[in-house]
Amino acid sequence: MALNKRRFDALIIGAGGAGLNAAVQFANTNARVAVVSKVFPTRSHTVAAQGGVNAALANVMPDNWHWHMFDTVKGSDYLGDQDSIEYMCREAIPTVYELEHNGVPFSRLDNGKIYQRAFGGQSQNFGGAQAARTCAAADRTGHAILHSLYQQNVRARTHFFDEYFAIDLIRDNEGAILGALVLEIETGEPLLIEAKATVLATGGCGQVFRTTSNAHINTGDGMAMALRAGVPLMDMEFYQFHPTGIAGKGMLITEGVRGEGGYLINKDGERFMERYAPNAKDLASRDVVSRAIVTEVKEGRGCGPNGDHVLLKLDHLGEEIIQKRLPGIRESGKIFAGVDAAVEPLPVFPTAHYIMGGIPTDRYGRVIVPHGSGEEVVPGLYAAGEAACVSVHGANRLGGNSLLDILVFGRAAGLHVLDNMEEHHRPMNEDSVDQAMQSLQRWDRKGDGLSVRELRDEFRKTMEDHAGVFRTEEIMSEGVEKIKALRKKMDDVVLTDHSKVFNTARIEALELQNLMDCGIALAASALARKESRGAHSRPDYPDRNDAEWMKHSLYYLEGDRIDFKPVQTKPLTVDSFPPKERVY
Ligand code: FUM
Repeated sequence: MALNKRRFDALIIGAGGAGLNAAVQFANTNARVAVVSKVFPTRSHTVAAQGGVNAALANVMPDNWHWHMFDTVKGSDYLGDQDSIEYMCREAIPTVYELEHNGVPFSRLDNGKIYQRAFGGQSQNFGGAQAARTCAAADRTGHAILHSLYQQNVRARTHFFDEYFAIDLIRDNEGAILGALVLEIETGEPLLIEAKATVLATGGCGQVFRTTSNAHINTGDGMAMALRAGVPLMDMEFYQFHPTGIAGKGMLITEGVRGEGGYLINKDGERFMERYAPNAKDLASRDVVSRAIVTEVKEGRGCGPNGDHVLLKLDHLGEEIIQKRLPGIRESGKIFAGVDAAVEPLPVFPTAHYIMGGIPTDRYGRVIVPHGSGEEVVPGLYAAGEAACVSVHGANRLGGNSLLDILVFGRAAGLHVLDNMEEHHRPMNEDSVDQAMQSLQRWDRKGDGLSVRELRDEFRKTMEDHAGVFRTEEIMSEGVEKIKALRKKMDDVVLTDHSKVFNTARIEALELQNLMDCGIALAASALARKESRGAHSRPDYPDRNDAEWMKHSLYYLEGDRIDFKPVQTKPLTVDSFPPKERVY
């Protein structure tokens, strides 16, 4: 098979908020940047972000970035790296103003300033009264941001490879990344893209779970590419279940509902969050609220004929507010639950939402791996957004910090690539073509005929049963073995007859392989961590154990090996926030 080649200064894989905010940094420069996306860019998952982006603008209530930093460190259950967290919270303010100047149509207050709503885990004055820090465009903030960034990239003449699937990174024999092998989905034509720097901005892996708020495209492609290139994944055990997915379906109902004054009730009509989080109540952080909902259901206080969900009440807000601030979730409620939220409460249950872990990076987006007793940068490789783990979320992410992370660190990665372009240059050679041909073999699968769909359904159910909100040694050990057995079955998936198989089916097989690698990383890291921290909740080890577990996990594909590295507790310019009991 002939292999076409293209050469760019920077290759960005993924066209969500992180990828597009990295790419737009090349506007008005001579650098040539390519963005590869397996879907049309404005269909990337950022489009689904609802509630908003955090920045201490103090438009509605007093605020400052230092309080934002405290809340984020506390929210992370003290596992977040405080240098990165400080950087993100400081940069949040100019980042939101930059978005505003780039045309994002934020909702407005009567005085014309950007509208901000309350979100979970936000406080004034280091744990005091509720703050309102989340800048919103109604409940379609991600949609507004993604479209504006795409338009800015079109204006900047970013080169888009739309509906191209990235298969593998290409390395030289010293481990530097030289670009990637990608493939046009429609034609199946492979393309080798050489670049001085490659940025993985491929988003999360939410499709590892059966019930999820994530789009079908969120299959952990970049994380799995990094694993295959020898890079470990960090903190994969920390998976966030958003408290309010539509029960039984998983679609997101924004935390903004509770930020606007909505609240959760059980079958007795009790506002149960008052028992679990007496101060913050429904706006406690997500891990706390998700566990509370699952506990209510397990203890028999769930609603509906099967007692398998709770209710989110917002009709008391009135139709006008709902239509102005939350039009999207009213629509989702009608479509997916048959409920008009302006009239009756929505049935909700936690849904898989966000991976706190990912490809380890520093705050410039450079991928960093352990080396000897220290760390080293992988030359030519960057990561940003949900695919990355710069460790601003630690063991639990705060709502509204995800859009912030992708924008701040997408921008930082783009700028760092631009400033260090010459340093990165290493050309591809014959060996690169051999690597590409090797990777292409996965496109033509041989085996005895297993179906991708059956294997995927079994895998996602196994993940849900064995790596959910509450986890024990027994449940997880069994899960890891089952998932490894399913991974072996991948070899038997058959897709050989070109005349009968759609390219999209081949892509699904590649995606499933990526998902399985992410799934094992998640389950194996969860099994290894013998404590409860943030979203990782183990009834058999119910307490946080700072003495032994104040460290990041690292999962390596080779041998399914787990290692650890220290948490960075020292911020850049301010005092550290030492670990404390975490109550809301
Ligand atoms: O609830 C939400 O709107 C989700 C926001 C987030 O995950 O940051």
